[in-house]
Amino acid sequence: MEIIVLPDADAVAATAADIIEARVRRGPAVLGLATGSTPLGTYAELIRRHRERGLSFAQAQAFTLDEYLGLPAEHPESYRSVIRREFTDNVDFAEGAVHSIDGQAEDPEAEAERYDASIAAAGGIDVQILGIGTDGHIGFNEPMSSLASRTRIKTLTEQTRKDNARFFPSPDDVPHHVLTQGLGTIREARHILLIGLGAAKAEAIAAAVEGPLAALCPASALQLHPHTTVLVDTDAASRLE
Ligand code: F6R
Repeated sequence: MEIIVLPDADAVAATAADIIEARVRRGPAVLGLATGSTPLGTYAELIRRHRERGLSFAQAQAFTLDEYLGLPAEHPESYRSVIRREFTDNVDFAEGAVHSIDGQAEDPEAEAERYDASIAAAGGIDVQILGIGTDGHIGFNEPMSSLASRTRIKTLTEQTRKDNARFFPSPDDVPHHVLTQGLGTIREARHILLIGLGAAKAEAIAAAVEGPLAALCPASALQLHPHTTVLVDTDAASRLE
């Protein structure tokens, strides 16, 4: 793992955008996109570079990381909606190039298999952007997730539902279940950017980077990955040795 500690969230966003821009300019790229608050600065910076520097995503494809189970695709908080609103609709991805998981699929297990197959058919993910949960989850692979898991249904912990309640009118509205890329799926990405911002993530970052490789901290599975870059601000880095 390569750990880069930067002074603040803006510097983290600029560095993440540099890595993504370099890959996108090199030729057709497959990007893995997390939702949540953490990557928003990176997406805003990529949109700015698209508008001001002609950074084009016309040859790129994108795959979202996860989706709430049962939430209609057009719900404003479905990850399909969020990623379009916060990033992909503001740049020039081609029609059909942004893939997401159908949270309302009649057969969610078949949908999970279809999704893994569609990532493979695209040639795999070149750069996967990840945030981290306060409990160390990546995607929605909560503690004790299998390190080899594929895309599948998971139940959110009460902590994660509480952490995500800010996006919904009431905490009770946060879905209990999700479809998420598995830890095995995520680890197939060729380059992983794990981003941590703020003191609330300091413990999870320390456990992921310096703790034992353990299912108790799903992000520690990235210790097995040959090319993971951890981008953190000084607050999120504050528990590192
Ligand atoms: C989002 C995702 C989650 C978030 C994590 C951190 O697609 O899979 O793992 O990255 O919950 O969320 P934020 O960034 O909102 O703190």
